[in-house]
Formats: sequence, structure tokens, C-alpha cells
Amino acid sequence: MTQAPLALSDAEIAGIARRLDRPLVLVGLMGAGKSTVGRRLAALLDASFMDADEEIERSANRAIAEIFEEFGEEYFRDGERRVIARLMDEDYGVIATGGGAFVNAETRALILERGLAVWLDCDIDTLVKRTARRDTRPLLRDGDPREILTRLKDQRAAAYSAAPIRVVTSQGSQDITSLRILEAVDAWL
Ligand code: S3P
Repeated sequence: MTQAPLALSDAEIAGIARRLDRPLVLVGLMGAGKSTVGRRLAALLDASFMDADEEIERSANRAIAEIFEEFGEEYFRDGERRVIARLMDEDYGVIATGGGAFVNAETRALILERGLAVWLDCDIDTLVKRTARRDTRPLLRDGDPREILTRLKDQRAAAYSAAPIRVVTSQGSQDITSLRILEAVDAWL
């Protein structure tokens, strides 16, 4: 499928930034590019960026895998919701969330109320390739990553589709994905 050429001037991007009165909250599966695209988006918007997973690790003073091991997933989801709520109260223009955050009903409601959720939807081959780069994700440790990601994609699609904006990403450039998001945000505003 050929996409329309991307054309957003600096002035148009600045206009979008001015009209945005809430943080852009990136949601989607592990490996979809939320953190990388989030940083790029924030730079384009001249806004600050925060990765919720990093902030969870900082506040807990533990790696996410350790939190899962020591306290379990439910405890992690609870902390994740509190951290995301706090970040949305602070002055971040773009927040990247962990892949399961928007699947949790309470966290999803919070993001839908106070942020603008952007679902980065991505094909399985790309997700498998990107997540293979590091072994820090507890959910991908017990089994075949392709099978796990395929199952999660299926299970989570309904939750992710509650996001007002969906952008399909693949192995293409993060710049193109960022501009597509901005075009979608512009149309949404
Ligand atoms: C998770 C995704 C991870 C991290 C945790 C659980 C998930 O974040 O929050 O390992 O449930 O999909 P990334 O999506 O940034 O990898």
C-alpha cells in the first residue's frame, strides 16, 4: 500500500504542539517502538519525554524482571498505574508506556481520560526482531517469543483499539512513524 507523502512544516508542528493540551501516551506491544518513537516525537514537538518503564524501575529501584519475580505481575500493574497517573500530572508532552499498561482496565481509563493514546501497531516479524535485541522482558522469557507475541497481539488488540489514534509501524524509519503520528494528532485536534 502506498502512503500519502508526509508533509508537515516546522510551523505546522509547532501549531500542533500549541494546540495539544494533554500528553501523547504511546501504547502497543513490546517492540513496537514506543520508546524510540516517543523520544523522536517529543523532540519534534519540543516537549519532554518520559518512559514509564524506566520511571517504574527508578521508583522501585529494581529492574522490571525483578519486580515480576519478587512481587508478581499484579503488583507491577498496580505500580505501573500509579506511575503513569503521576507522569500525566507532570509536564511531559510524550509518555511511552509498557506493552501491558493499556490492557489494564483502570490504567486504560486513566490514559483515555487525561492523555491522548496513540497505538503503535506493528507486524509480528518486526516485533520478534526488535524484542530479540535484549533479554529483559519477563513475559518473553518462558517460551517462544514469536508464539507469545502472536498470542498477546490477539489478546490485546481489543484493548489497544480503544486508543483514538492508531499508526501502523514496521521496519520503516522512526521519523516517518513520528510524522504519521503528528498528522493523525493534527486531524484529531
Ligand atoms: C510488558 C511490556 C514491557 C514491560 C513489562 C511488561 C507487557 O514494556 O512493561 O515487561 O506486558 O507487554 P515494553 O512494551 O516497553 O517492552
